[in-house]
Amino acid sequence: MNPETTLSSAGDAVAGKKPKPFIIAHISDMHAGSQYFVPNLMDRAVIELNELKPNVVVVTGDLTNEGFKQEYLLAKSYLDKINCDNLMVIPGNHDARNVGYVHFEEMFGSRQAVLHANGISIVGVDSSEPDLDHGTVGRHRYQWVKEQFQGAGNFRVFLLHHHLLPVPGTGRERNMVYDAGDTLEVLQECDVNLILAGHKHVPHAWRLENIFAVNAGTVCTLRLRGKVRPCYNVIEILEDEVTIWRKYPFHDADLIIKFVPSTVDFEKTARTEPKP
Ligand SMILES: [Fe+2]
Ligand SMILES: [Fe+2]
Repeated sequence: MNPETTLSSAGDAVAGKKPKPFIIAHISDMHAGSQYFVPNLMDRAVIELNELKPNVVVVTGDLTNEGFKQEYLLAKSYLDKINCDNLMVIPGNHDARNVGYVHFEEMFGSRQAVLHANGISIVGVDSSEPDLDHGTVGRHRYQWVKEQFQGAGNFRVFLLHHHLLPVPGTGRERNMVYDAGDTLEVLQECDVNLILAGHKHVPHAWRLENIFAVNAGTVCTLRLRGKVRPCYNVIEILEDEVTIWRKYPFHDADLIIKFVPSTVDFEKTARTEPKP
C-alpha cells in the first residue's frame, strides 16, 4: 500500500498535485428535531462537505428523531445546502416512526437508491420497519439487490441504516438486522466490497471474508455512547486502494482503515481515545 496520505489529498487532487480519488462522503443519524441535535455541527459538516466536493454524498438514515414532517423539513433544509449532484438518502428506524416514511417519500423519493458512476456501484435499501427499532432487509428484496449489482461496476457498495455486524463499544447488542446472515450471504454473492451503515452512532470497521463493513457515527448530535464524538466518514477510492477517514466537524480526521479490494489486504487503525 502507499504510504499514509491525509484527508486533504482530495484538495491536492483538485490542485493537480495527485490523481483525484472518487470520494464518497458518508453522513448518518442527524436526528433533526431531537433535543440532542446540534445545528452548529450540521452547519459545519455542510461547509466541510462543500469544500471537500465529494462525487457522492450518502445519508444512511435517522434523518429525523420521530419521523415528523417538521423534522423532515429541517433535515432536508440542511441536505439541500450540500452542493453535490449525487445525494443518496435512505431512511432509518427513527424515520419510520409515526408513519414518517410518507414524508420521506414525498421529500426524497424512493426509499431505495442506486448509483452507477466511474466503475463504482452503490445500492441502498430501506432496512426500517414502521415503529420498530430493529432492521430487516427481507427475502423479497434479495432478488432486487442482486439485479442492481448484475453487471455493475468493479467496486460495489451497499447502503443500509442498521448494522449487519455487531459494533464494539455499544453496550448490549440489539436492534440489528433480523436477517443479517442471509443478507450478508446475498451481498457476498453480489461481490460487494463495502457496506456502509449507521444506527449505533459508533464508528467502526470490520472485514468479513471479502467484505468491509464500515459504520458511521452521528454527524451532528450528542446522542453519543461513551467518549465517541460526532463524526462522519470520507471514503477515497483510487484505483485498487480504498482509504476511509473519520472526520469530526470543526476538528481533525482519523484514518479508520485502508484496504485493497482485489486482495482484501487491509490496515486498520486501532480504536483510540478521543483527543482532548
Ligand atoms: Fe440513530
Ligand atoms: Fe437508528
